[in-house]
Amino acid sequence: MLSSAVIGTGFMGPTHVEALRRLGVPITGILGIDPAASADAARQMNLPRAYTSYQEVLDDPNVRIVHITTPNHLHLDQARRALLAGKHVICEKPLGMNTLETSELVALAKEHPNLAAVVHFNIRFYPMALQAREIVRSGAIGEVYHVTGGYFQDWLLYDTDWNWRLVEGEGGRLRAVGDIGSHWMDLVRFITGLEVVSLCADVKTFVPVRKKPRQAVATFKGKEQDAPVEYDEVPIRTEDWASVVFHYNNGGRGTMTVSQVDAGRKNRPIFEIAGSKGSITWDGENPAELLVGSRDRGNEVIQKDPSLLTGAARYFTGYPGGHAEGYPDTFKMLYRAVHDYIEAGDWSKPKPYPTFEDGHLIQALCETIAQSAQERRWIDVK
Ligand SMILES: NC(=O)c1ccc[n+]([C@@H]2O[C@H](COP(=O)([O-])OP(=O)(O)OC[C@H]3O[C@@H](n4cnc5c(N)ncnc54)[C@H](O)[C@@H]3O)[C@@H](O)[C@H]2O)c1
Repeated sequence: MLSSAVIGTGFMGPTHVEALRRLGVPITGILGIDPAASADAARQMNLPRAYTSYQEVLDDPNVRIVHITTPNHLHLDQARRALLAGKHVICEKPLGMNTLETSELVALAKEHPNLAAVVHFNIRFYPMALQAREIVRSGAIGEVYHVTGGYFQDWLLYDTDWNWRLVEGEGGRLRAVGDIGSHWMDLVRFITGLEVVSLCADVKTFVPVRKKPRQAVATFKGKEQDAPVEYDEVPIRTEDWASVVFHYNNGGRGTMTVSQVDAGRKNRPIFEIAGSKGSITWDGENPAELLVGSRDRGNEVIQKDPSLLTGAARYFTGYPGGHAEGYPDTFKMLYRAVHDYIEAGDWSKPKPYPTFEDGHLIQALCETIAQSAQERRWIDVK
């Protein structure tokens, strides 16, 4: 398997490392924000090398794939340099800060057609999300009338919760939408094949001033810190909550609500897809079940059991029924899709993974949402 290097040592860096290891991918080393962070992470995860600079990663001929898990404002530069150095790239979402950045990356990826340019929409790789796609594509629920759902978390509920995502210059103009709404919009597009043609959005910042600790806090770690810390009060412009109505290109409708201030909702992507013959519902807090709704007979619950699944859903399921699989497994399966594809060597085949183009398209939706909310009106998607 192609050797990989991981950039970033926060929440995502070690998550990528763990999934790569479970798949048997050799990891050349890791790069943190400074040499000490690289060394700490390499020691903790028993990795062979602590890189001291990004250039050192790019100069290492053993590195074939670069995993970018740094804050959003660094993705453009790091992804661009990796492609130019001839490396495959797996870049965390969102792909960039705006469509100017993501369109540059799409163009660069096109100039390097034999390099994988992957954006990390891993939620696609929950087995029951893949099965939902199989069901919609089979025609079993008929024409899609509407999609309802969203993505809910509570880790930014209090004004003492802090993360770089809150700052527009580091995370992007939209936060809840860019961070978790991007996953939901990609997921629905992936499952249904529908494109958004216009939308109307509302956003809200419920916590307009936050207490920023004077020392760095890793993602989700703020909730675990109970000792008082020194802080500065900082005004927040990025949204805690958003709700969007979509028009799809088949005439169907969609509604998405996202929130990072929903007490009790730790990490909950959820969707219901209602069609002319039936419906399917999936709740990411109970990811092993898919509800297939029917008007004329009893509803059916399909379990995550490879013997009950079809196509890609079966291929990307790692364990027998009754054996839990969840969020970390989606990383492993995304990487399996990428490595299988690269190793097969036929670059003319459709990509089984989310590409930079997918990342760009979702970024365009995020920008349209920001514009719609600001101008308080419906906007056609370009
Ligand atoms: N796919 C998912 O489900 C998912 C989940 C969480 C985060 N993410 C994405 O992953 C990325 C990172 O998020 P996170 O939650 O891990 O953040 P984090 O703050 O926990 O980690 C970011 C890491 O990058 C390091 N870093 C900063 N500048 C660097 C540089 N120049 N070189 C090397 N390392 C540097 C930081 O020190 C930190 O260790 C973001 O783009 C985020 O949107 C995706």
